[in-house]
Amino acid sequence: MNKAEVLKEIIEQRKSIFPKDYAETEISQEIIEEILNSGTFAPNHKRTKPWRFKIFQSEEKAKLALEMQEIYKSTQAPQTFLEKKYQDIGFKINKADAVVSIVVNFSGMVPEWEEIAAVSMAVQNMYLTCTANGVGCYWSSPKIVDHLKESLTIEENQKCLGLFYMGNLD
Ligand SMILES: Cc1cc2nc3c(=O)[nH]c(=O)nc-3n(C[C@H](O)[C@H](O)[C@H](O)COP(=O)(O)O)c2cc1C
Repeated sequence: MNKAEVLKEIIEQRKSIFPKDYAETEISQEIIEEILNSGTFAPNHKRTKPWRFKIFQSEEKAKLALEMQEIYKSTQAPQTFLEKKYQDIGFKINKADAVVSIVVNFSGMVPEWEEIAAVSMAVQNMYLTCTANGVGCYWSSPKIVDHLKESLTIEENQKCLGLFYMGNLD
């Protein structure tokens, strides 16, 4: 296959794959770095490089799961709290081998939408690199990420746009 054919195949194969379908194996550190590195090649106006990615694995990931669950619990009225949803938040983060927080940094140099667009293109690069490496992934954007404090430091000019889940596929 020539380069154009390879690219077409990867673009067409890319899809969101959820943690329930991830294998229990570890993604190699080399591939994780490759995935994150691919994000940094996204186009960005005035070279503001607005993406801020933090990778969560092992202990830190377990803490993130607990914090997300606690936020869900504390922001729901008792009558809307669902035990299944609470368990599912923990399950997804624990089942993924790695989770990346997707944060946009607003530099003030370009309109905010341009920074969000650039971060989104970075995430697309990560999706494609996952696909090429047999890694399942998806972008999750629950409201509760706005309340993350312990796992993530979000500055005043930043916003968390969600979490990027990753796990090997069988
Ligand atoms: C900005 C953004 C936010 C998303 N947030 C969620 C989400 O919160 N929950 C979810 O299940 N999927 C989420 N997704 C994934 C989409 O649901 C998914 O891309 C869509 O269903 C199309 O499927 P595909 O990625 O396999 O083509 C998000 C995708 C994008 C681009």
